[in-house]
Amino acid sequence: MSDLNAALDDILIGEDAASNLTCSAFAEVNEAPRPQPNKGKARNRSRSRSRSKAKSVAPVGELPDVLAGRYRLERLLGAGGMGAVYRARDLLHEQFGEPDPYLALKVMSEAFSETPDASALLYSEFALSRRLRHPNIVRVYSFEVDTQCRRAFITMELMRGLALDRLLCERPTGLPWNELCDVVRPLLDALAYSHAQGVLHGDLKPSNVMLCDDGVRLFDFGLSQAEEGILTGLPQLSRSRFNAWTPSYAAPELLEEGVVSVSSDLYAVACVIYELASGKHPFRRLPATQARNERLDHQLQAPRNLAKHCWPVLRKALAFDPSVRLTTVSPLRDVFREPSSWLKRWLCRA
Ligand SMILES: Nc1ncnc2c1ncn2[C@@H]1O[C@H](COP(=O)(O)OP(=O)(O)O)[C@@H](O)[C@H]1O
Ligand SMILES: [Mg+2]
Repeated sequence: MSDLNAALDDILIGEDAASNLTCSAFAEVNEAPRPQPNKGKARNRSRSRSRSKAKSVAPVGELPDVLAGRYRLERLLGAGGMGAVYRARDLLHEQFGEPDPYLALKVMSEAFSETPDASALLYSEFALSRRLRHPNIVRVYSFEVDTQCRRAFITMELMRGLALDRLLCERPTGLPWNELCDVVRPLLDALAYSHAQGVLHGDLKPSNVMLCDDGVRLFDFGLSQAEEGILTGLPQLSRSRFNAWTPSYAAPELLEEGVVSVSSDLYAVACVIYELASGKHPFRRLPATQARNERLDHQLQAPRNLAKHCWPVLRKALAFDPSVRLTTVSPLRDVFREPSSWLKRWLCRA
């Protein structure tokens, strides 16, 4: 038991190393713990060992073909600002005859994984996504570390489909009402559920929503944040210093103060819905702060494919001023569930 405590002591964050959670995450868990005859002294010695390790932590290595002796990387699926996602095969599951041993594996990009807290950020993405069990949200499996190359990674379900940014390239005039509803309803369900669990997405945009064979999936919780009081054990890492928000989908207050909120998620999802309904971004892809300065909201017109009754609510979700913006997903969700006026008329006649 004391051996285990000593090993844990090595992993736990020393006060001086706390500013760099990545160093702590890679404290050498492989090293055989030494017997500790005196608990008090052992802890002190262990702290000083952690300190010296934190100073001499090795640089992260290149990705090997097989991570953690188990996941064979097959090909790069995509890379965003901070992460790279690979299609991988779980060799362990395959050995036991698993017919579909494929999964997606996310690591921080090589450049980014050198920055302090990179692994802690990835862990935070994992912990927040793991809270969410919903048919329209990507399912994560595990958070692991390859101790040889000193890289942390997440494993998750392999989505097979088309992201909305690619769909929009194929459908430059937007989606007709029925198809629009097929995408928007599950997307809003996923967002409402996520907010109900206290998880704010923080980076909603077309490339973070996938249309899969079995439905829509919201993914990439890399810039997510928990609402106050949720997952309080997670380190409060500041994402704003990475300046990673996507300017055309980030609400003005997110660009100015870096505060993710239900309301900033609503602004982002409203931009996505507008774009799906018209093929065009509501504010010419400008950052919200610039669009606000240019008063582009005054020229905003209802997208052609949107049912009329949805427009007042969508417009309210697009407000630059958070004090007049929608405060929950519900009104948007409700209008997309309501039958449109032509359908109502038809139903009344029938
Ligand atoms: N679970 C997954 N299955 C299939 N492809 C994925 C999966 N997760 C991410 N991708 C692909 O990898 C790209 C980058 O992943 P993402 O999580 O968005 O990383 P980043 O935080 O760098 O934007 C996505 O745009 C998508 O194409
Ligand atoms: Mg992304």
